Amino acid sequence: MMMRPVGFLGLISAAICAVVFALRVGAKQPVKHELPPAPDGKSKVVGLCDGQTSVVVPGVAAGERMSPEQARGVADELMRKYEENKVLAHGGAAHTEREMRVWEAELKRTIDEGYKLFHSPELGTNGISCDMCHPDASNTHPETYPKFQTQLKRIALLRDMINWCIENPMEGPRLSDDDEKMKALEAYIISTRKGVPLAPGKH
Ligand code: HEC
Repeated sequence: MMMRPVGFLGLISAAICAVVFALRVGAKQPVKHELPPAPDGKSKVVGLCDGQTSVVVPGVAAGERMSPEQARGVADELMRKYEENKVLAHGGAAHTEREMRVWEAELKRTIDEGYKLFHSPELGTNGISCDMCHPDASNTHPETYPKFQTQLKRIALLRDMINWCIENPMEGPRLSDDDEKMKALEAYIISTRKGVPLAPGKH
């Protein structure tokens, strides 16, 4: 039997929506910023960590390694432009009020998300949640990382122990390092120790 055209189109558009949604959710965070092309189309362009500043390196091809002197020069030039732009963008002021509001709201959202995950069994498969053993994130000691962890037999970061506890007592699948849930858990755990001095390696 032929499908009615409307039903068929509806099905197609629903399928397209599902694929687009899956791609968006699964999309990796960008790790490199878009760089302007070199004026001659072939020279190296190096971008700074702010996602805005860049420097063209004439005489060095894209993908080629720079000499130590060239590398030093490019790093210095990137930082010089960075300082200059910063002063222009903020008119000399440290941070705008809008920036502060965005930073605060985004951090709070992430910490709240971490709090929810920490207090829910969804990370595991057996019904156990983190807070059953670590009420209020007690004994998670984020300030002591990195440190040698006996059960892992290697230097561990906070996220390695989070995964260890997900995989063992909670029988759940480990989270990848750039998983938003891992970021949220770290944000919540670290936020409970605000002001505690860093003590890497402390047992
Ligand atoms: C069934 C109890 C239990 C559950 C559930 C559990 N943990 Fe743990 N966790 C422990 C114990 C016990 C240790 C200490 C292990 C040791 O002696 O090194 C520990 C250690 C840790 C550490 C390292 C602490 C330190 O001092 O270095 C972190 C971080 C941590 N857990 C986070 C979590 C997170 C996040 C969850 C939930 C995803 C979780 N744990 C779930 C019992 C649990």
